[in-house]
Amino acid sequence: MAKFPYQPWEITEEGFSPRDLRENESAFALANGFIGLRGNLEEGAAAGAETIQGSFLNGVFDSEPIVYGEKAYGYAKNHETICNVMDAKSLVLCADGERLDLGVSDVREHRRVLDMRAGTLRRSFTWHTKGGAVLRIETARLVSLARQELAAACLTLRCEEGACTLALQSAIAPAVIAEGDPNDPRNAAGKDRSLLTGRIAAEGALIAMEQKTKNSGFTICCAVEHRGLDGHAEAEANRAVWTAERKLAAGERVHLEKSICYTASRFEEESDQWEKTGELCRRAPDFDTLLQEQRKTLDAFWDGAGLDIQGDDALLQGLRFNLFHIYQSAGRDGRRNIAAKGLTGEGYEGHTFWDTEAYILPVFIHTDPALARKLLEYRYAILPRARERARELGHSKGALYAWRTIDGEECSAYFPAGTAQYHIDGDIAHAVCEYFDATMDLDFLAKYGAEILVETARLYYDLGFFSAAKGGRFVLNCVTGPDEYNVMVNNNVYTNCVAEENFRSAGEAMHLLQRQRPIDYSRLCADIGYTPGEAEQWREAADKMYYPAPVDGIYPQDDDFLNRKPWPLDTIPADKHPLLIHYHGLTIYRHQVCKQADLILAMTQYGECWTLEEKKKNFAFYDSVTTHDSSLSMAVFSILANEIGEIGTGYDYFMSSARLDLDDMHHNTKDGLHMANMAGTWTGLVRGFGGMRCRRGELSFAPVCPPQWQGYAFCVGYRGRTIRVSVNADGAKYELLGGEPITIRSHGESVELK
Ligand code: BGC
Repeated sequence: MAKFPYQPWEITEEGFSPRDLRENESAFALANGFIGLRGNLEEGAAAGAETIQGSFLNGVFDSEPIVYGEKAYGYAKNHETICNVMDAKSLVLCADGERLDLGVSDVREHRRVLDMRAGTLRRSFTWHTKGGAVLRIETARLVSLARQELAAACLTLRCEEGACTLALQSAIAPAVIAEGDPNDPRNAAGKDRSLLTGRIAAEGALIAMEQKTKNSGFTICCAVEHRGLDGHAEAEANRAVWTAERKLAAGERVHLEKSICYTASRFEEESDQWEKTGELCRRAPDFDTLLQEQRKTLDAFWDGAGLDIQGDDALLQGLRFNLFHIYQSAGRDGRRNIAAKGLTGEGYEGHTFWDTEAYILPVFIHTDPALARKLLEYRYAILPRARERARELGHSKGALYAWRTIDGEECSAYFPAGTAQYHIDGDIAHAVCEYFDATMDLDFLAKYGAEILVETARLYYDLGFFSAAKGGRFVLNCVTGPDEYNVMVNNNVYTNCVAEENFRSAGEAMHLLQRQRPIDYSRLCADIGYTPGEAEQWREAADKMYYPAPVDGIYPQDDDFLNRKPWPLDTIPADKHPLLIHYHGLTIYRHQVCKQADLILAMTQYGECWTLEEKKKNFAFYDSVTTHDSSLSMAVFSILANEIGEIGTGYDYFMSSARLDLDDMHHNTKDGLHMANMAGTWTGLVRGFGGMRCRRGELSFAPVCPPQWQGYAFCVGYRGRTIRVSVNADGAKYELLGGEPITIRSHGESVELK
């Protein structure tokens, strides 16, 4: 039986399953791009159930030196780890001295609902107390999408039968940090993640706490204001507590609202942060007002996405859940990005990877371009760090983005599958191009985009060379593609593709600015010492980019891929997956096996470079050597399968990725949700089944409808238009919901939309 009933807008947990608590805490996380609260129970733990408590602030991290057994030049120096900051969700209930605990108390009809339209987590249950009272309890929580520093919670409790003395205790306390698995490189075990607690205050109905990171210089303030019930606030040694007590007779009820405010600043940026946090919290609107604002923000988002599936409620629920979470987790101020697990858990330590540009940005570019722009502005903000890193790695020009980071510094301690992933530059460049193509945002290009393109192109030009051994072609050696099971290879096809695009687009962007924004162009030339001669060099490198030649129709994803020892997947025991935690890297790297297949990714992103026949043949081959040990893999396979007409395979891959976290298919949802995969399912629908492609002002679709569905629909924004595409077995319908008329292509035919 499904863990959650298939509902279009809600994720409902009926009853309470201690075994699922940690996964559900990830699934029920709420966030707004700054604050992220895991779906922890208000009362904290439940006897017999493991919990992972978490409250995060996007971009707020602590750092510590990486300790290497053997160190060498240029290794990443510091870990950055997202902080699990003080917890303010807590609300402990006691009736006649009996403390509510789901593992012990007589609790009935327990239900939690994540409402993706309202942006709330609601909970309800009936508590039969030992003293004979029956209490009906309803709580709700939200993290305000309209106000970055605010979250809120409320509780309504009604005594249905009997009577009791009810005590409520709300607190701000340092986070209780769960220990991760020290053998799993994907989580943050073994790091000192505690914060230093500073001021603690209690005044009237307000409690507050200040914390500081040990090394990175962040000050974090949190305040909670209580309304609706008279209580008493107190500052204790290590926490701030607000308590209230009420005698309740049958029929009586209490209602309590909590406004929760978090702020973070670095290096004493704001000397009055402590006071401001308290003020913001005191002035926060009531829960109902926040609810209305929340609904309005989410309505606009859902309208922009226009997502619908007819005939598969489980899928529709999965897709909406995925979109909801990436939307919640994305930073909105140009200084914060989106972590691999969003703001739902500590997996991957809160680091941002290429996941943002390669998977998540395509979604926002076509559903919420303003948000997409902010995420790209983050890359501009960390460009100086990328320049420094390039110098450190011996590049005389250009910028090399960190493979994994929070504020721009490279945090990957394992360079073969980290720093060596030079495709990160090309991914960012590609996203800049995609964003510009879809929005024609010249202002962005002039202020940020062109400079990113130039610096990344410079890096690739410095990295590669025209190789006599390859007939004078431009080669990029000793890099790792996205596929981390083949490291430090020569001419990874995906990396060469993104670099080629980067070379061309950097020159074109500068040329465009020269014509259309001459003042910005001159400023940029002066700032970064650009000369048009560079664009000439890049064009030559692009024209001469080397790609490994096919052998019997199979394109090697790098120079030596076909020269590695075959390792048939059916000979690998099922319990040895993912390979990365069961085999030494050297075993993996010597074999012809992929974690995620780079050629397949290149074929979906640069489809025009291969024929349909080539795609078919190579899909079959790479399908047989790919483990999909990365959650980023299946969505890509689904897209190409659909393009080559293998709708059944496309459907299977799509379905395996669509509910990956809802059904905990990778058994690590407890550490946080897989943001890239979640975004990849949108792309799987829109580009895979919808066949959407856009390039240089041409928007095209080639929709197919798998027989399992009656139909589906989605909206995409492109150059100021919003287009709704509805597909069923009879064909596709295109509606222009907003913007000027546009000509698109549907299965190759021109269609005018008015
Ligand atoms: C994948 C990477 C990805 C990272 C974070 C890894 O398992 O191989 O491509 O960037 O997870 O999601």
